[in-house]
Amino acid sequence: MRFGTLGKSGIKVSAIGTGTWAMGGDFFGAIDEKQCIEAIVASLDAGVNLVDTAPVYGHGHSEELVGKALKGRRQQVVLCTKCGLTAPGRNLTRKAIQMEVDQSLTRLQTDYIDLYQMHWPDPNTPVEESMQAMLDLKKEGKIRAIGVSNFDEELMRRCMAVGQLDTLQPQYSLLDRQVEKSILPFCRQNGIGILSYGSLGAGMLTGKFKTPPQVEGSDKRAGFYPFFKEPLFSQALRLVSVLQEIAQEHDKPVAHVAINWVSQQEGMSTALVGCKNPAQAVQNAQAGDWDLSAQELERIDQALREIYGE
Ligand SMILES: NC(=O)c1ccc[n+]([C@@H]2O[C@H](COP(=O)([O-])OP(=O)(O)OC[C@H]3O[C@@H](n4cnc5c(N)ncnc54)[C@H](OP(=O)(O)O)[C@@H]3O)[C@@H](O)[C@H]2O)c1
Repeated sequence: MRFGTLGKSGIKVSAIGTGTWAMGGDFFGAIDEKQCIEAIVASLDAGVNLVDTAPVYGHGHSEELVGKALKGRRQQVVLCTKCGLTAPGRNLTRKAIQMEVDQSLTRLQTDYIDLYQMHWPDPNTPVEESMQAMLDLKKEGKIRAIGVSNFDEELMRRCMAVGQLDTLQPQYSLLDRQVEKSILPFCRQNGIGILSYGSLGAGMLTGKFKTPPQVEGSDKRAGFYPFFKEPLFSQALRLVSVLQEIAQEHDKPVAHVAINWVSQQEGMSTALVGCKNPAQAVQNAQAGDWDLSAQELERIDQALREIYGE
């Protein structure tokens, strides 16, 4: 497993992190709780040391499962959760942050969070107030590092004027590279660590979807990730076929090529990869055991230019 750091915090993290959105049970289809807990444990056994969750994933359910899975090995794990996105909407007021952190600590069965992240911008609260609340939590010892998610440069700049901002968690994968234009360069210049989400394109980059998943019941992924709709879906299939060729040459799963492409980009701390069972968790963690060569990275970039015309 390769290791990096969470920005200026100096906290050491594995290049692959375990994401637990699906484990909330309300967005990626049905889950088996026992399998979810075993998946988190299996990822740790396979070398992962970072787990990411959020209160909004299944209204606390994902955090509860993470808390159960980490019993007895809390100290070995970099535990990341978030605040500011709950059922009624966005709320990053000082009062909401102070209340949410205690609820998360209870569900996670711990007395500290390693990385606490503002989940989405709250247009109704000055970000300076939110950032000060986060800094106060750090002083109290409830959190060790401060992150944001889905923030732009301007909001990050305002946070940095108040105190140390350690990380950004944006959507970033072979299927969504919007942050490459200006957000990632800003993070690199300012020592902000990057945790990519949707690293596997919600499963699209494993090669298993030949037709788009239907938005039905509790499987709503196609409503959040735009590449499940045409014409992006057909373009994604073309890209997956190039990844498949590289995977075959290494005798590795396609998922490894997608995970390694994002995790090998400059400034990355961790590629967050979601899973629902131990087999997926172990397969994903094993991507960190090998690297794509410079020629292979260029081959993928060439395919991106051909398919997306950039
Ligand atoms: N900050 C934010 O706003 C935000 C937004 C999204 C995600 N996140 C974080 O980032 C994490 C990762 O993103 P994500 O979970 O949305 O998407 P992802 O990691 O791209 O895809 C995860 C899904 O792909 C499937 N999968 C995973 N490994 C597989 C394998 N080896 N073979 C076949 N299928 C596999 C699983 O679903 P199936 O088995 O059902 O196909 C899994 O739930 C999340 O869990 C969450 O922690 C944060």
